[in-house]
Amino acid sequence: MCGIFAYLNYRVPRTRKEIFTTLVKGLQRLEYRGYDSAGIAVDGTGKHDKEQICLFKKKGKVKALDEELYKNDAIDLEMEMDTHFGIAHTRWATHGEPNAVNSHPQRSDKSNEFVVIHNGIITNYKELKKYLISKGYEFESETDTEVIPKLIKYLYDNRESECVSFSTLVERVIQQLEGAFALVFKSIHFPGEAVVTRRGSPLLIGVRSKYKLSTEQIPIQYNESRDIQNKNYINKVDSSNALHSVNDRMAVEFYFASDASAIIEHTNKVIYLEDDDIAAVAEGKLSLHRMNRSAGEDPVRVIQTLQMELQQIMKGNFKAFMQKEIFEQPESIFNTMRGRICFDTSTVVLGGLKDHLKEIKRCRRLIIIGCGTSFHAGVATRQILEELTELPVMVELASDFLDRTTPVYRDDVCFFISQSGETADTLMALRYCKQNGALTVGVTNTVGSSISRETDCGVHINAGPEIGVASTKAYTSQFVSLVMFGLMMSQDRLSLQKRRQEIIDGLRRLPEMIKEVLALDNQIKSIADELYQQRSLLVMGRGYNYATCLEGALKIKEITYMHSEGILAGELKHGPLALIDYHMPVIMVIMRDACYTKCHNALQQITARQGRPIILCCKDDPEISKMAYKTIELPHTVDCLQGILCVIPMQLMSFHLAVLRGYDVDCPRNLAKSVTVE
Ligand code: F6R
Repeated sequence: MCGIFAYLNYRVPRTRKEIFTTLVKGLQRLEYRGYDSAGIAVDGTGKHDKEQICLFKKKGKVKALDEELYKNDAIDLEMEMDTHFGIAHTRWATHGEPNAVNSHPQRSDKSNEFVVIHNGIITNYKELKKYLISKGYEFESETDTEVIPKLIKYLYDNRESECVSFSTLVERVIQQLEGAFALVFKSIHFPGEAVVTRRGSPLLIGVRSKYKLSTEQIPIQYNESRDIQNKNYINKVDSSNALHSVNDRMAVEFYFASDASAIIEHTNKVIYLEDDDIAAVAEGKLSLHRMNRSAGEDPVRVIQTLQMELQQIMKGNFKAFMQKEIFEQPESIFNTMRGRICFDTSTVVLGGLKDHLKEIKRCRRLIIIGCGTSFHAGVATRQILEELTELPVMVELASDFLDRTTPVYRDDVCFFISQSGETADTLMALRYCKQNGALTVGVTNTVGSSISRETDCGVHINAGPEIGVASTKAYTSQFVSLVMFGLMMSQDRLSLQKRRQEIIDGLRRLPEMIKEVLALDNQIKSIADELYQQRSLLVMGRGYNYATCLEGALKIKEITYMHSEGILAGELKHGPLALIDYHMPVIMVIMRDACYTKCHNALQQITARQGRPIILCCKDDPEISKMAYKTIELPHTVDCLQGILCVIPMQLMSFHLAVLRGYDVDCPRNLAKSVTVE
């Protein structure tokens, strides 16, 4: 939900054009988080108004903003700035329709004294707005965010002394805010300074300097008069290499972003902020504080080295990120298993869980919690987890789980599945389970994300960055991670060894089998050619492949805007059968597993009503082929992994349908990749 990017160059001369390019590129990397409108704020547009802040905002995608920036002849693009701070935002609208006024940056007043970009939702904005209106402030947008620049201006205008710092003002602002936010502030009163903060929404800082940064840790300052260079760094190599060495005239660049994909092309040195951290850059020096810090509190933030590579977030020769990510699955699955499964000894070790295994084995039940696709990964693996762990397994949609205030106990183990690691509903459910004393386990794809940090332990699925809004490779890697967890839990169970062995063999062959499925792309495209003008598409199956149907239908609806439903074939006769006739497109998943005969019955019911099912089935199944309108024949694997091979044709189908219908696959309307609002 909304992407934040900001760039501060300190003693690194940059032309305005270079600054625009950096900001726009940063936004383009984050566009998957929202693309209703975009905006930037930079210092004055020409030599005469250098001290002013200029705003550029445009409805639509970042490209529209980019074009806007170069339309104005008055802007001196070659003007060089030794030190400058620019902020940028791409919006997923929550409060107020997508238009230029509601776009960010939001401002304090017509002179743009303070400008702010925000990701999240301020839940008490109405009260704050009322108060500020009573103080004479006039609001121009419908956003919740606008209270923030107005509030900081109010605090600035009423400050007790001239020397109050920018970060102190921001601290006072966030003391008043309720809800979720990542915020970046810029002000004409503090030129060349940046203040950023977060609570509930992600924010990280990239640092680029010719000095070695890899081993320092940044102490949190809790006394503003103390400068960061006076603190004792832990692991510091020598002070000349320190991030802020004394007497430096150091040229340094800072990047602030909602996620690492916007930073990686500039630097791999990053600091992840925690909730209520306030980071400020003044005179090229970064200092960190915590809201309401008390004396004696002295935590540190480590400068981490990102493992991500730029190539991972580029589209390459593919038409869309989603397509690239579908085709990456042989490698992403391999990376999920790498170093965790020893195929020679049939052992599975998930490093992040091994110290908690005893506790998990003693638990009363496992609860798997997620949203959307991540929830489906729980549905897909529930049966095999019940079998391998011999524990009851509940799978819950995070929002519903919270709505019901589901009873959770100290001897529960709760898994939080999330690609982004930032989904608000899942994060809230995590906090709720923690409060109730359960052991919490994160299964995420984003190192440093809130869910990975707040859980007691976890598994990183290692699928690599997923940029397409529709989740694909993260699903199959979540699936494999959960299966590996089941295998680890059953390592010592003699009675389960045969079963474990067939699953481990299946996992070993999985990347090759996925390649076989991907080779069916042309065939799937030709089926999409027939279907793309339909309004509806039903997807049916049962057992291990019920999740395939839910996930396939979700992919179709979110990127093709066709109505699609995933139906449990066992429920057909309880209602959905009424939808079936010659014209209703139906996809059925019928694999050779324990549900084969039952699925066959459902197939009979469909064909008896003139339905013309397209069937995903195993290779060489003449029985099924006879009754199908068309078949997509897949390699056969062990029942509990078959869902991975079956979901890929559905991913490809949705991709082709969306392209044929003329939609932007990576940016489906009304959606965003990381849903950081409840
Ligand atoms: C669908 C999709 C969403 C996400 C859901 C949870 O393709 O991507 O349904 O799965 O918003 O997101 P994460 O996994 O980031 O918690």
